[in-house]
Amino acid sequence: MNGFECERGDEPRDDEAKNGRSPAFPRPVRSFVVRAGRMSHAQKRALEELKDRYLIPCGDRSLDLDAIFERRAPRTVEIGFGSGDALIALAKKHPERDFLGIEVYPPGVGRLLACAHAQGIDNLKVAMADALEVLRCNLSPSSVDEVLVWFPDPWPKKRHHKRRLVRREFVDLVHRILRPGGTLRLATDWEPYAEHIFETLTKHPGFSNLAGSDRFMPRSPLRPETRFERRGRHEGHRIFDLCFRSQPMNAPLFIYGSIRDKDVQDLVLGEEAAQALFIEEAWMPDAVLARVPDECYPYLSPRAGERVRGELIHGLDRETLERIVYFEGDEYVLSECIVERRSGEAVPAMYFEGAAIVDGPFQEWSFDTWQAQEKKRFLTMCRAYMDLWHRGRSIAQAETLWRDIRCDP
Ligand SMILES: C[S@@+](CC[C@H](N)C(=O)[O-])C[C@H]1O[C@@H](n2cnc3c(N)ncnc32)[C@H](O)[C@@H]1O
Repeated sequence: MNGFECERGDEPRDDEAKNGRSPAFPRPVRSFVVRAGRMSHAQKRALEELKDRYLIPCGDRSLDLDAIFERRAPRTVEIGFGSGDALIALAKKHPERDFLGIEVYPPGVGRLLACAHAQGIDNLKVAMADALEVLRCNLSPSSVDEVLVWFPDPWPKKRHHKRRLVRREFVDLVHRILRPGGTLRLATDWEPYAEHIFETLTKHPGFSNLAGSDRFMPRSPLRPETRFERRGRHEGHRIFDLCFRSQPMNAPLFIYGSIRDKDVQDLVLGEEAAQALFIEEAWMPDAVLARVPDECYPYLSPRAGERVRGELIHGLDRETLERIVYFEGDEYVLSECIVERRSGEAVPAMYFEGAAIVDGPFQEWSFDTWQAQEKKRFLTMCRAYMDLWHRGRSIAQAETLWRDIRCDP
């Protein structure tokens, strides 16, 4: 679907649909439908005359962005820039950065090239290709500082959801090209898509939500208004902004709560995966364990001079980490920290920060007391909660059921 030619909810009119039969070689499901869009004379001319200056021929080679931009500067990639107004505004406002736009719609690309040329913009290049292919084949790991996806086609009908750009495979590819600490910013005016994006990114261990305890970010005044944002507002839609930070997935994980218990690990990770873990003792400096109000599990609360004993898990694979992210639920976000080994050596690690926990009066939490007094009941609740994982429930769905599980394990 392309925003210039087709309204929300239109049927994709690709060859399969037109012929009324499946092609002999099924094509990959795409987030767009290639249409013979109307191109103005000016757009055609811009494409023809300015392609050498702005278009990057992609093919299947890895792009050397330093050579292409003839310098090394912070880099932003905008995916699906449409008419390109926002990209032009950003490139003009930030000459200290380089911008790569990815778009499949030739009239939009033609328009962008004409504007860039008219305004003498040089810190901008364009890949006229499927973003999934560009991310997969042309961009090198950790080569980009920021990725923008503004108002991706929502594909609102259920049978078209598979066409949505933002799905697990896409997020994996973005994670690969973003440098650690780089950001993925998205916006949409379609609430169910906003929820889907939120869920996909929250589940991904390689990203943490910069909105902290909230799901969505307030709209940044630095984000130029896009054509589809205007359209959404005109239709009375709320706009949802999301901003996630990329984090390395290979750092060891510091655990400090009930997941230190071997029976909990068996339930959360599965016995085989739990047995294969390499675990060592470690300490989080300047912190104490506080009990989450009305719950039987802890969070780390800062306190200078104290330290929390826990364990460091090495070599977690992605699926195992995903299970732990699910187990921790939406009150915790995966964050970075420095912990101390038994030898006193300080090592970078990930840990679950209680970002959405409402602070009450301080109540201490102790692993030994929990094992002695609360573990038995907790295991029953944990079994019921992880059962929802096996039934494919999302974190948000499982969280809404948690209250019932807690009352009636
Ligand atoms: C709804 S429009 C939004 C355009 C613009 N960001 C805005 O907010 O006005 C989505 C754009 O994404 C482009 N698009 C969709 N899937 C794409 C893909 N896989 N690769 C590149 N562009 C894609 C479409 O061609 C379309 O121009």
